[in-house]
Amino acid sequence: MCDVEVLASMIKSCNRCDLALNRKGAVPGEGPTGARILLVGQAPFDAEQINGRPFWGVTGSFLRYLLGRGGVKFYDCWRTNLLKCPLPRYGRPKWRQVYACLPYLKEELRLVRPGIIVPLGKWATKGIMHLFGIPRPEKNSMIPQMFGKPLYVEDYIIFPLPHPASLIYRSTLWNPTVDLFEGFGEFLLHELN
Ligand code: URA
Repeated sequence: MCDVEVLASMIKSCNRCDLALNRKGAVPGEGPTGARILLVGQAPFDAEQINGRPFWGVTGSFLRYLLGRGGVKFYDCWRTNLLKCPLPRYGRPKWRQVYACLPYLKEELRLVRPGIIVPLGKWATKGIMHLFGIPRPEKNSMIPQMFGKPLYVEDYIIFPLPHPASLIYRSTLWNPTVDLFEGFGEFLLHELN
C-alpha cells in the first residue's frame, strides 16, 4: 500500500520486466484521485515517455476529442496505461509484461477508487478482464464486440471502448468510434444519474 507519489516513483524505477531495458522513461498514471472514471490505454508512446505523462501526443488529442463528444472531460479522469513502459516499435504486449505491470494498475484502482473503468482497445480490455478474473473471449477478434457494452464487476462498471490510436491509420473507424464515445456519454447520463 502506498500513495500516488510513492507509486509513481516505484513505477519510474521499475525493472520487473524486459521493457525496462530500453525505455527512456516509465509513465505513471495521473489525474485527480477520487476521479469517477479511470481510463486505461495500452502503453505510452514516444511522446509520452519523453514527457512522462500518459496520452500526451496525438493519441491524447484524439482521446480528448472523443471523450468530449460524450461530454466527458479528459482532465476529470484518472489516465493510465496497462503497461507503464513503451513497447518496441510495432511491438505488442506480452502476457508476462502485462502480469508484471498489473499490480501497479491494481494499486491505482485502490488509490483512485473510480466507479467506472474504461479500457481503451483490445489489450487494455484483456488486461482488465484478467485483473478481475473475467473469462476472456476465445479470439481477440471478438473483443471489439465488447466495446460500448458495460460489464458490472464487483463495485465497478467496466466500459470498454476502442483505442484512439486505431484512428491514425484507419480513418473509416472515425464514425463508429465517435458513436461509441457518444454512447458512453449517454450511458453516463441515463444510467448513472
Ligand atoms: N499514449 C498513451 O499514454 N497510451 C496509449 O495507449 C497510447 C498513447
